[in-house]
Amino acid sequence: MVKVDLSHALLEGNVLDYQEEVNRIHEMIHQKSGKGNDYLGWLDWTENYDKDEFERVKQAAKRIQKQADVLLVCGIGGSYLGARAAIEMIQGPFAKNNLEVIYVGNTFSSTAITRVLEYIKDKEVAVNVISKSGTTTETALAFRLIRHFMEEKYGEQASERIYATTDKERGLLKPLADQKGYETFVIPDDIGGRFSVITPVGLLPIAAAGIDIDALMQGVKDATFELNNPNLEENSAYVYAVVRRMLEKQGKSVEMFVSYESHLVFLAEWWKQLFGESEGKEGKGLLPASVNFSTDLHSMGQFVQDGTKVLFETVIRVDEPIEDGIVPSEEGDIDQLNYLAGKSLNWINEKAFEGTLEAHEVTGNVPNVLITIEKTDAYNFGYLVYFFFKALAMSVYMLDVNPFDQPGVEVYKKNMFRLLGKK
Ligand code: PA5
Repeated sequence: MVKVDLSHALLEGNVLDYQEEVNRIHEMIHQKSGKGNDYLGWLDWTENYDKDEFERVKQAAKRIQKQADVLLVCGIGGSYLGARAAIEMIQGPFAKNNLEVIYVGNTFSSTAITRVLEYIKDKEVAVNVISKSGTTTETALAFRLIRHFMEEKYGEQASERIYATTDKERGLLKPLADQKGYETFVIPDDIGGRFSVITPVGLLPIAAAGIDIDALMQGVKDATFELNNPNLEENSAYVYAVVRRMLEKQGKSVEMFVSYESHLVFLAEWWKQLFGESEGKEGKGLLPASVNFSTDLHSMGQFVQDGTKVLFETVIRVDEPIEDGIVPSEEGDIDQLNYLAGKSLNWINEKAFEGTLEAHEVTGNVPNVLITIEKTDAYNFGYLVYFFFKALAMSVYMLDVNPFDQPGVEVYKKNMFRLLGKK
């Protein structure tokens, strides 16, 4: 379950005044009659997904665990951010894990790819190349180098260690995978990249990392059921959707996603893509930004407290941390920390949150929307991503924008291809 607390949001109006508009858009989403409605496959995905393929994902994940020390996840944007967000959020930092996951194909940095190839030289490697279009240059280029590395290292057996997730027929990756004999998984036509973490795009790397994808899908399923209700008093995703628009009307142009756990940094990256790519169109939309506190209180905190009043904060709160510890007492108290002796580390993090909330809201006049989940486990990850999908659809339709396309992304590609001499 996801709880939304508005008691620090400094709202000037009443959320419930939007009920009629929410009813209308809810119908539009569920009747699949709004802009971009070809991409609403995520809406009832837990009813419709291919159960045989899901089993195949689990089998492939087990095989990868046996085959490899390192799994290279080769993809960009929606084709890798969800898996990375899930794996980092659920396992936490320095997890006891036999499989190391390395993300490639998401940059043109010559140093990044060269160093990865050097690093994996003497390791056992498996690869999951993920591209819906099968033509994304960052991914395709890295995959060419990786393919050569794998073929040199493993000869004909390379194809048993490479798994391709792509469109069922379009693009260049599918024919390549068929020709080489890679096992393939399908990215459904009606689910866009930034919604695809609940398809094999996210599920294969997540399962290979040792995470329970049945629990993850149960979270998605429960959210699908519980958030299928237009009533603003009962639908936390729609409340969040409306509040974003209300704060925008109150003059805010930046939404800053705040977490107090370093293993949620990639959840924030995933969230930024989801909201930025979905609503930043036609000169509209809130700029999604992110910080990780208390770390960034020592860098960005000054701006949030005292800078231009452009932003509000959306704080993700977690009731139960993955790990906790107790501060030891020390004779002599030379570092003067004995006032914390016997306290838990998570309690201290809580106090940092409470103090920051008061500083930003009361002294800084910065609205804070609080989103709370119980734990950072697979179930809550599944629930949370669906919560954000649903909120996103509502919030972006409120702007009268198509949430599901990304025409602006093509502009840099066109220029780059001209400069690269692509025919
Ligand atoms: O959300 C999106 O549509 C994008 O971020 C894509 O996922 C990203 O551009 C990668 O595209 P592809 O999977 O076609 O390689």
